[in-house]
Amino acid sequence: MVNGILQKKRAFIGIYGCQMNISDAERMEGQLAALGYERTEDMADADLILLNTCCVRKTAEDKVYGKIGEVKHIKRAKPTLIFGLTGCMAQKEGDALIRRAPHIDFVLGTNKVHELKATVQELESKRRGHIVDVILSDAPLPENVPIERAGRLSAWVPIMYGCNNFCTYCIVPYVRGREHSRQPEDIVREVEEAAAQGFKEITLLGQNVNSYGKDHKRADFAELLLMVDAVKGIERVRYMTSHPKDLSLAVISAVQQGRHICPHFHLPVQHGSDRILKAMNRVYRKDAYRALVAQIRESVPTASLTTDLIVGFPGETEDDFAELLDFLREIRYDAAYTFLYSKRSGTPAATMTEQVEDAVKKERLHRLMDVQNEISFEKNAALLGTLQEVLAEGPSRTDEDVWTGRTGTNKIVLWQKKGHETEGDLVHVRITQPQTWVLKGELQ
Ligand code: SAH
Ligand code: SF4
Ligand code: F3S
Repeated sequence: MVNGILQKKRAFIGIYGCQMNISDAERMEGQLAALGYERTEDMADADLILLNTCCVRKTAEDKVYGKIGEVKHIKRAKPTLIFGLTGCMAQKEGDALIRRAPHIDFVLGTNKVHELKATVQELESKRRGHIVDVILSDAPLPENVPIERAGRLSAWVPIMYGCNNFCTYCIVPYVRGREHSRQPEDIVREVEEAAAQGFKEITLLGQNVNSYGKDHKRADFAELLLMVDAVKGIERVRYMTSHPKDLSLAVISAVQQGRHICPHFHLPVQHGSDRILKAMNRVYRKDAYRALVAQIRESVPTASLTTDLIVGFPGETEDDFAELLDFLREIRYDAAYTFLYSKRSGTPAATMTEQVEDAVKKERLHRLMDVQNEISFEKNAALLGTLQEVLAEGPSRTDEDVWTGRTGTNKIVLWQKKGHETEGDLVHVRITQPQTWVLKGELQ
C-alpha cells in the first residue's frame, strides 16, 4: 500500500452469560471483522474493548463491574481506546452505566446487535461523546448480520429472541423483550451455510424454544426441528431451552423420528415443591412434569435428561427443600445446573418478604449438589462397558494426547488419541471409567 502497512486493529470481546450471548457476540465479531478488527485475548493490547454482559444473577453483574474497573486503567494509558457494553446488563442499566463509569463510550441494548458496526464507525471518526441505544423494539431484527463463529464444529443458531414467561425470579423478559421468532427459511439458510462451512452440529437457541412460531405461525418447533434435521452435512441437532409448560408430544416424536436430533432433553424444573413452583409462576406442577418425563422416557428410552434448579427462592422452607431433594431422587437427572436464588430488582420475587438467608441458601445448595452428584455418578456408572458414538472435538485442554468429544446425550467423553481420528469425526468409544462429570474410555 502507498501509505505503508495497514495497521490491523484489535478487539477484545468479553462474553458473559448464556449461549444467546455467545451467539450475539459472534454477530458482533462479524461486524468488527468487517471493520478490520482482529480478535485479541489481551485487553491491554486492544484498540476496542467490548463486554457482552449478563445480569441473570448478581454474580454475573459483579464480574462485569470488575472488568469495567480494569478498563479504566487501560483507557487512561490509551485514550483512543473504544470501550463499549452490550447485552443484558447494558439493556438493564442503559446510560446509568455511563454516569457510573464515564470511560464507557457506548452502550447498546439486546436488540441493537446489528448496530455495532455503525456505532463503532461513528466513534472512530468522532473520538468523543457517548452513544447509548437501548430501545427494545417490537420489529423483527435484521437478518444478514455477518457472523464470525467461535467454534469450528458446533454452531449456535438463534431461532427466537425474548421471553414472555415472566417467571417471578427472572430478569430476562425485561432485558430481552417479548418473544419474536425468526422465519423458518432464514433459520434453514443459516444452518445450510454453517453446514457448507463444515459445521457438524448445530444448537437452536431460544429462551423457550417450544413456543417457536407461535407469533408468525409459519412453522412450529417440531416442524422446524425436522426441517433443520434434513439439512445435508449436519450430523447433530441440539436445542435449548425447553420450558416444560410448552414441550409438546410433537417435539418428542420429532426427536424420535429425526435422523440426527440428539436424545437429550434439557427441561429446567427449577424446583420440586408445587408451592414454590406456583410462587415462581412456572405454570406446570410436579404431576404434569412427571407425566412429561414418563412420555420422554417411553418414546426415547436412550434420552438423557438434565435440568436447572434454584435454591433459596423466597419462602422456601426446609419442607419445600426436602421435597426438592425427593423430586431429584425420583426423576434421577443425568445432570443439574444449580443456582443460588439471586434477587433481581424489578422482578416480583425481589419484593417477596420471606427472603432466605444467604447462609441457609448456601448450606442447602451443598446438600442439593451432594444428592445430585451421587445420582449423576450412578447414571454414568451404568454406562460402563457400553459403546458410545462421540463427535470428536479435538485434544482436551490439559493433555494433547487425550481427546474429547460429546455423546448425543451430551456427556463429555475422554480417550487416549489413537492417531486416526480427526476433529469432526463421529467415533466409537468404549466406556471404561465412568465418573461424575465425564466418561473415560477407549477408542474402538
Ligand atoms: N429460559 C430458560 C432459562 C434462562 S436463565 C428457561 O426458562 O429454562 C438460566 C437459568 O438461570 C434458569 O433456568 C434459572 O435456573 C436460573 N435463574 C434465572 N433467574 C435467576 C435468579 N434470579 N437467581 C438464580 N437463578 C436464576
Ligand atoms: Fe426467565 Fe422463565 Fe423466561 Fe426462562 S422462561 S428466561 S426462567 S422468565
Ligand atoms: Fe444472562 Fe441475558 Fe442470557 S441475562 S443468561 S445473557 S439472556
